[in-house]
Amino acid sequence: MCGIVGYIGNQDAYPILIKGLHRLEYRGYDSAGVALINPHGQLNIYKAKGKVSELEKFAEDKDISGHIGIAHTRWATHGEPNQVNAHPHFSESEQLAIIHNGIIENYALLKEGLMQHGYTFRSTTDTEVLIQLIEYTQRTSKTDLRTAVQLALNQVVGAYAIAVLDKQHPDTIVAARKGSPLVVGVGDNEYFLASDATPIVEYTDKVIYIEDEEIVLLKKGEEPQITTISNVSKTPEIKKLEITLNQLEKGGYAHFMLKEIFEQPQTLRVSMRGRVNIDRDCIALSGFIDNRERFLNAKRIIITACGTSWHAGLIAMYCIEEFARIPVEVEYSSEFRYRKPVINKDDVVIAISQSGETADTLAAIRLAKDAGAFIFSICNVVGASIPRLSDSGCYTHVGPEIGVASTKAFTAQVTALIMLSLCIGKEKGTLDNESYLRILRELGNIPDHISKVLQQNDRLARFAQMFTYAQNFIYLGRGYNYPVALEGALKLKEISYIHAEGYPAAEMKHGPIALISQEMPVVVIAPHGSTYDKIVSNIQEIKARQGKIISIVTEGDTQVTEMSDFCIPIPKTEECLTPILSVIPLQLLAYHIAVAKERDVDQPRNLAKSVTVE
Ligand code: G6P
Repeated sequence: MCGIVGYIGNQDAYPILIKGLHRLEYRGYDSAGVALINPHGQLNIYKAKGKVSELEKFAEDKDISGHIGIAHTRWATHGEPNQVNAHPHFSESEQLAIIHNGIIENYALLKEGLMQHGYTFRSTTDTEVLIQLIEYTQRTSKTDLRTAVQLALNQVVGAYAIAVLDKQHPDTIVAARKGSPLVVGVGDNEYFLASDATPIVEYTDKVIYIEDEEIVLLKKGEEPQITTISNVSKTPEIKKLEITLNQLEKGGYAHFMLKEIFEQPQTLRVSMRGRVNIDRDCIALSGFIDNRERFLNAKRIIITACGTSWHAGLIAMYCIEEFARIPVEVEYSSEFRYRKPVINKDDVVIAISQSGETADTLAAIRLAKDAGAFIFSICNVVGASIPRLSDSGCYTHVGPEIGVASTKAFTAQVTALIMLSLCIGKEKGTLDNESYLRILRELGNIPDHISKVLQQNDRLARFAQMFTYAQNFIYLGRGYNYPVALEGALKLKEISYIHAEGYPAAEMKHGPIALISQEMPVVVIAPHGSTYDKIVSNIQEIKARQGKIISIVTEGDTQVTEMSDFCIPIPKTEECLTPILSVIPLQLLAYHIAVAKERDVDQPRNLAKSVTVE
């Protein structure tokens, strides 16, 4: 969480920084701030509570000149979200300014030491402690800024991506990272700095991904200098960016979320391109092919992820066990990393993460790697920390996902996991060739099927208006569609703030059935498949208690349709592929209910897209 941006060059820094903050707002939006060194050498800091637009209003009549600056959009960890706690933070003397994404865990101890040396604090943040420590180190060790940052970071326990300005050196930015992402954009006699490449892409496609425990010194007219916090020099490696500018714009849609829902036919085509080969009847996943033996010899597969990615992992449990006959455990990364799990050398650990930066998932794979397991990751952001730490993996390639509620990343994760399970099953001989071919050919039809589901958007939008009254929703599914019930409920909670729970349909009678009444909408995901008859009985139990049934069914269905108050048909497909279709109406339903309730769909309250704190 938190987005950081920096600029040094010949252009005006402020517009670049503000534009960058807007791009990074998905990482947090409870307060924002900017620090600029103006041409007279003054270091100005402006901060405001709320979104970046509030900062812009606040800075309207201020001196925003300067060709060097840093800026921040915050998701509060230490200290409430107000103007004082917003970043950047000054040092005691106001010579230095810092922005920070992460947490300084030992801040209390460091703060106590600094107070004994006469330092006072304006905010209640851990970040202010760090800038005071840097200033104290700079003064007492009589060193330059880079060395002071290095010495200070050696005393810090925690996670950080930071950028520091020094009024005395208006041509220099010092930045560093450990656990939180940081990218440098290399322009023509100018540098950009950001939490991810989205603020950089319109200026340059040359980037340097800063690694953990590295410090980078950016000086106008000089090459970037990278050293580690133990003072070892590194050669910067310039990479080419893959994202494009129009991927970062709404393209005529009211919200990024709606755009991303509608992109799914195309994103899945891209995800499968070069992998699902219908003409040659094969699936080629290089991350699997290159590590075939690890998968075939795996005694167990552990899947670790958070949020929506965890739901994709749960679907993978069904298909990997069905096709590859390997036991699968699906773990919340935050629980897995702390519960002393038993990890064996012949385990394969699959990490799923859209951002590739989620702190708990990153820590979970570190743990598994240390225990000797093989790490395979399914991520979207190319070059992010999780794929870089993994032994192998598969990128989903859906382009930047900007809406905080994940949509297109989910369907691509599920598709990647199904491809992987088909590959393992085929190679192991646990999946018969006929089923393999049937499913792989049907994968090719999925984008068109999604387009068909999307045609029901207007109908869903009208229908959603009827549910703005609801305080609670229940989502029910079985088998492959139980995780979809969880995902549908999560989508609704995240963006409409309506309480929603997902349940395996048969579990309903062990508790949630007590909640059913005329006021309670129950969303039942009931496409044709092995558990269809069972779910029909579950629906009857709800009907008997006057619950309102919204169902997702296979086209041509009659039984569930007759029992439903509202029904959304999806095309007939292979059972393992139904989640990719059944989740689409649930994304749209959540979206339209949230819009009808006038919620901030793309930036729902309290959430952030990239969760880089534990
Ligand atoms: C946050 C986001 C979710 C996402 C989860 C895991 O909670 O709001 O949309 O599913 O983090 O993120 P990851 O990037 O690891 O998939």
